Amino acid sequence: MTKYRKADFPVHDVRRVLEPGPIVLVSSAHKDQANVMTMGWHMVMEFSPALVGCLISAGNHSHDLIRNSRQCVINLPTADIADKVVKIGNCSGADVDKFSEFGLTPKPGTHVRAPLIDECYANFECELADAAWVNRYNVFVFEVVKAHVATRPKLPKTIHYRGDGEFMISGDETKKWRRLFRPGML
Ligand SMILES: Cc1cc2nc3c(=O)[nH]c(=O)nc-3n(C[C@H](O)[C@H](O)[C@H](O)COP(=O)(O)O)c2cc1C
Repeated sequence: MTKYRKADFPVHDVRRVLEPGPIVLVSSAHKDQANVMTMGWHMVMEFSPALVGCLISAGNHSHDLIRNSRQCVINLPTADIADKVVKIGNCSGADVDKFSEFGLTPKPGTHVRAPLIDECYANFECELADAAWVNRYNVFVFEVVKAHVATRPKLPKTIHYRGDGEFMISGDETKKWRRLFRPGML
């Protein structure tokens, strides 16, 4: 077993080491407006109901649309559209129609008004389950009320954000530790 030598590390950069999961595109709609933003800070919070916590900054146009509509769709993009995903996170729906600017195809959902993005591997239709942390942390707790997941490929190449413009693409998959795993564990 390797024992790692460590150096002092700035605490504000901890997020660069504790990367939480794949980058997603959050789509929203309210009244006559639809929008999409890039999001890296999310956390699965419960199996059933299927709760996901999302940090959506108050300065983002999406924040207001989601706060008012109490709905969104969490879309999972893959590495082939990474350039669009980054660009979507670098402009605001207050200034630009991102669906037409980035050639995304909006598809109607079955439970929410926010559009599903057809170019994404998975679409999770969400309703706001708990707004208690919105004012304090900009964290919306959503319940996924309908999930659409592509049947192929089995393991998508997802994009992961390590901060400061560094990205990682999901790689090797293995079941070699499965026999050590206790059924019922997360
Ligand atoms: C890789 C990446 C990850 C991001 N993660 C988040 C996030 O977790 N939460 C957030 O509020 N903004 C995040 N952003 C910034 C928003 O995507 C950005 O402010 C976006 O332009 C907001 O769009 P809107 O004003 O149309 O809502 C991220 C941007 C990038 C490029």
